[in-house]
Amino acid sequence: MMPQNTPPSPRSLFENLKREHPFEPVSVTGTIPAFLRGTLYRNGVGLFEQFGRRYTHVFEGDGAISAVRVEGGQSLAAVRLVESDGLKAEREAQRHLSGSAARWSTRIRANFTGRSKNNANTHVVSWQDRLFALMEGGKPTEINPDTLETIGESDLEGEIPGAFSAHPHRVESRKALYNFGLRYGKQTQIDLFTLPDTGPARRLGALPLDHPVMVHDFIASDNHLIFFIAPVSISIWRHMVGFGDFADKLKWSPALGTEVIIVPIDRPDQPIRFSVEAFFASHFAGAYEEDGHLIVDYIHYPDISLITVLEDGLGMTWTDKSRHVHGALHRAHINIAHRTFTTTPRWDGLCEFPRINPAREGRKYQVIWLQTACYIEDCLRSEISRIDENGGVITYTLPPGQFCSEPVPVMPLHSREDEGSILTLVYDCYDQKSHILILDATDLVEQARIQLSQVIPLTFHGSWVGETPPDPLRD
Ligand SMILES: [Fe+2]
Repeated sequence: MMPQNTPPSPRSLFENLKREHPFEPVSVTGTIPAFLRGTLYRNGVGLFEQFGRRYTHVFEGDGAISAVRVEGGQSLAAVRLVESDGLKAEREAQRHLSGSAARWSTRIRANFTGRSKNNANTHVVSWQDRLFALMEGGKPTEINPDTLETIGESDLEGEIPGAFSAHPHRVESRKALYNFGLRYGKQTQIDLFTLPDTGPARRLGALPLDHPVMVHDFIASDNHLIFFIAPVSISIWRHMVGFGDFADKLKWSPALGTEVIIVPIDRPDQPIRFSVEAFFASHFAGAYEEDGHLIVDYIHYPDISLITVLEDGLGMTWTDKSRHVHGALHRAHINIAHRTFTTTPRWDGLCEFPRINPAREGRKYQVIWLQTACYIEDCLRSEISRIDENGGVITYTLPPGQFCSEPVPVMPLHSREDEGSILTLVYDCYDQKSHILILDATDLVEQARIQLSQVIPLTFHGSWVGETPPDPLRD
């Protein structure tokens, strides 16, 4: 039986973006901290359906970049679809030309000719004042940061031979972003990239893999790139012949174990590799080095059921727990010399999308902020939580019918690690609009909210691009 006072359906979170618009003023309640001057960019799904056919999985949707700019306590918002070449071709043809929503013959032709769409729907990152929309199966798509207009796909001046994952990670001490990309073929490879704050992007090398696998995220410490390669095989033949939907192409093979790969950044041709019991790491919070160990915090799943749970988004309700995706925050200890690996839960809360202070990326941190959830009277309640090194947890629970996205920490210059603000995009199914909620990073007390004029459909990841870059911390 449906619990009393269940909020209205969250369906509009999974419906096409209603209106694209350039930056326009939006209202602010509360007081935006003075140090917050910049833009929060987020990426997610702008189109869930076209030409009368819905994508069978939210990951196939066309990307949309939303942006909220804060200047002098005032705020402006903009949102635009990513106008990929694939989307433009489909609009011209007035039908789907690749993916599960395309006719079978069209889908096969697209797969065999390598014309699958780069829907650029997962993350948006800034590098050298350029803005890129990312998805793990394609190259970066450059976006104009002021108009959100799509500039086009980029291989970063010839450095990206295949794909570029949606999860670059910064190593603050090296003043560089690092990333990887998978290249499928007779031999599947992981390409490794560095994007320094100054100078060109560069491919560091490539690692061969035993199987064509799906890898969503990785993490970097001061001196190492760390991969947990779960046994998620991609069935290339199913993909090529267009069989099944997105999730049908993935196979969980736990007997193969999860491969731990540690790549020394200065010696990328000398990786350390070994396998452990199978698990899946969706997202990483951070990693650092301590006494010959690597300490890695990540979101742990026993398998890949989270991918099948999502489907096309329409099954999402506030009460059906089987449709909610949350993992567990784990900490892995890796002894590099002895090649030993242990992983243990850090907390028993339901969580995803962990983030740390950007100035701490690559080195020791004390605090992680996460999107979390609980159930009150059997109804999902969305939360932002802060967990510290000693296991202390502070939680901000949203009202019923609201759903928050990944928390994005923004810190002032020369601040304490947890001094600043946490920004999250909140969907409200009662007023059918979204807003940016700004919380104090220390105690998660609400500081301000920026009201948007419409629902921003499901987003995955985002970045804050400040007027000044993150600075080393004072402690
Ligand atoms: Fe992700």
